[in-house]
Amino acid sequence: MSDSGRLDQTDEWWALRRHYEETRELHLRELFAADPERGSRYALEAGDLYVDYSRNRVTDETLRLLRELLAARKVTELRDAMFSGEKINFTEKRAVLHVALRAPRDAVIEVDGENVVPAVHEVLDRMAAFSGQVRSGEWTGATGKPIRNVVNIGIGGSDLGPKMAYEALRPYTDRSRVFRFVSNVDGADLHEAVHDLDPAETLFIISSKTFTTVETITNATAARQWLVSALGEDAVAKHFVAVSTNADQVAKFGIDTANMFGFWDWVGGRYSFDSAIGLSLMVAIGPERFREMLDGFHLMDEHFRTASPERNLPMLLGLLGVWYDDFYDAQTYAVLPYSHYLSRFTDYLQQLDMESDGKSVDREGRPVTWQTGPIVWGTPGTNGQHAYYQLLHQGTKLVPADLIGFARPVEELGELKGQHDLLMANLFAQGQALAFGKTAEEVAAEGVPAEQVPHRTFPGNRPTNTILATELTPSVLGQLIALYEHKVFVQGAIWGINSFDQWGVELGKVLAKNLEPRLTGAADTGDLDGSTATLVERYRRLRGR
Ligand code: F6P
Repeated sequence: MSDSGRLDQTDEWWALRRHYEETRELHLRELFAADPERGSRYALEAGDLYVDYSRNRVTDETLRLLRELLAARKVTELRDAMFSGEKINFTEKRAVLHVALRAPRDAVIEVDGENVVPAVHEVLDRMAAFSGQVRSGEWTGATGKPIRNVVNIGIGGSDLGPKMAYEALRPYTDRSRVFRFVSNVDGADLHEAVHDLDPAETLFIISSKTFTTVETITNATAARQWLVSALGEDAVAKHFVAVSTNADQVAKFGIDTANMFGFWDWVGGRYSFDSAIGLSLMVAIGPERFREMLDGFHLMDEHFRTASPERNLPMLLGLLGVWYDDFYDAQTYAVLPYSHYLSRFTDYLQQLDMESDGKSVDREGRPVTWQTGPIVWGTPGTNGQHAYYQLLHQGTKLVPADLIGFARPVEELGELKGQHDLLMANLFAQGQALAFGKTAEEVAAEGVPAEQVPHRTFPGNRPTNTILATELTPSVLGQLIALYEHKVFVQGAIWGINSFDQWGVELGKVLAKNLEPRLTGAADTGDLDGSTATLVERYRRLRGR
């Protein structure tokens, strides 16, 4: 891969700096007043997603300069390298090919000269056969009872995706079954997931790319004990399946590798949910709906791969993100879905974005002297409106936000569908208030006493994108996730970092391993730093050790 160069030494970067100084005071009110067409002109469509980006603090010139930066940073070249299976995750010497997971059966995508698509479909076919057996009741537990409960045990990328998508697609799920997701090494998580379940009707899906992750193996071991103490050792084969790239560890754990669904080292953990890691979701929604979701991902992949930078949605959102992150110094951005079904969407995006772009050296290992990945946060509207939106409207921080909504509520809501207009009115109103605010003159004209005017004035000029789709279907969910995946890619490419490794999570894991025996009293605290030693000793006293 070519040298990523120094972002802040490019002419394009400095052109943007100058442009920022010239335009930073511009208000969205002025921009809209000057261009009555702005609301329709600054909108893009891809697949089923419509994105209004008119409420951003940008002009035609800003967008032109941002696209010049995109070209200077060779983003399309890196994109093409990703799609063609080059090992762009160079610190781990791996290709980055989650796009192959959703490619159609006849596609050809090669890694080291081998087409990986047939293997992807072979696993999908096995997953479909297995899900079909569980859903039809043909796959029974050790006592002959059908499986009523499915518990996915995994963490990070082996948990957040299936959990988020299960919530998102609840109306499409088999409501006669219980689906639970266990990730935390805190025993309370597993306890709450299984305490009311009948082991004879429970299937555990142990999901771990490496099959060595301590949280997952600890929980899987405890789940195994829970099952074995009720049904005996021989029951394990009918109640445990594995999803992993590591057949040896799966076998070592005691799961028959015939009941293992594989994936590959070219799928990063946080990009793995549409691999076999989605098995629990496939059992919940069925193979056809799962395929619709994969087709939604693929549609966005193709858009990202082929659309010109002017029409390319992930490129646009990535560039806008860089604009606020690096030029306006926005530390965070909020993702605010106006859909209860997307209650876990932002949790999922946190790993996707922050594990990918939370880096501070460039691809050549030099410290970056610009901002990289933002802090991602947010919860579904309208709940946030009654909590932290106060800060969004009148606080001192600039928080760019994505507002996500759907024109139609899901069919299943019945009578409650009537509430949907109110939900969406809130979404549109928030975008309006954030952008245009309310001036002191407007407040005073309402007869507000003078001393209260400053308190009741809204500055506005707070940027948002509005992402609108007809309905939250499996395909639309796939499109949304792929949109954010590629947005994160674009930003990482501009910043010149490796978005595909995650060395930053290692140190804490090593230290926890080292500390555990000191907490139990099996080792002493003499070699620890003063703060940690004091805390560990206090913990031991509290535990009577
Ligand atoms: O600790 C971070 C991480 O490696 C993530 O990237 C990954 O999604 C998660 O742990 C789980 O890893 P595994 O699937 O190997 O258990």
